[in-house]
Amino acid sequence: MFALDKLPSLSANEIGKINVFEVGFGTGLNALLTQFEAEKQGVSINYSTIEASPLPESCWQALNYPHLFRSRVDSQIFAKLHLAPWNQTIEISPHFTLEKIHGTLEAFQAKTGEFDLVYFDAFSPDVQPELWTVEIFREIFQGLSTGGVMVTYSVKGDIVRALRSAGFSTVKLPGPPGKRHILRALKTIINTGA
Ligand SMILES: C[S@@+](CC[C@H](N)C(=O)[O-])C[C@H]1O[C@@H](n2cnc3c(N)ncnc32)[C@H](O)[C@@H]1O
Repeated sequence: MFALDKLPSLSANEIGKINVFEVGFGTGLNALLTQFEAEKQGVSINYSTIEASPLPESCWQALNYPHLFRSRVDSQIFAKLHLAPWNQTIEISPHFTLEKIHGTLEAFQAKTGEFDLVYFDAFSPDVQPELWTVEIFREIFQGLSTGGVMVTYSVKGDIVRALRSAGFSTVKLPGPPGKRHILRALKTIINTGA
């Protein structure tokens, strides 16, 4: 679970709109919490997310996140996120649009600099090592705007090294309850000396 409020380098006042890309829509939890923060903070977010194997309705209905989060999130929004058609951009709420891409990360090609923030929420490097490679991280790097950020939950040394090889600078951040650290990878502004 990633928290928008832990990303001080992305200021909505500076960039107006935040273009988010999530790897692995899954249960929709990250999308739901981000939509909640977008409306709470009045920050406009275009949220794109890629998913290889969408969950069937019986699974996401059974999760009952809106009940777990009580009044914080809205059950109608949660259903809207899941029922939104694939491969189309849909307005979910005044500050939040959603594009769910049905496909694999390996085949996805981002336009240069189209995203400001990436939630890298693939299954773990032990389970899916093919998604935690320098090549994949390079693709994400080129898809990020300068000053853009990728966050992920793995802080393994191999992952940090792969991210640095792809061009990122990295920093460990305190994680949410139950997780000591998460990782922030930053596409820094290149100083050409000109
Ligand atoms: C850890 S879960 C993501 C959880 C999700 N972000 C959430 O908020 O519930 C990882 C997700 O990545 C998806 N996935 C696995 N392989 C993928 C691939 N090659 N490309 C895109 N998505 C993939 C899985 O189906 C799964 O839903």
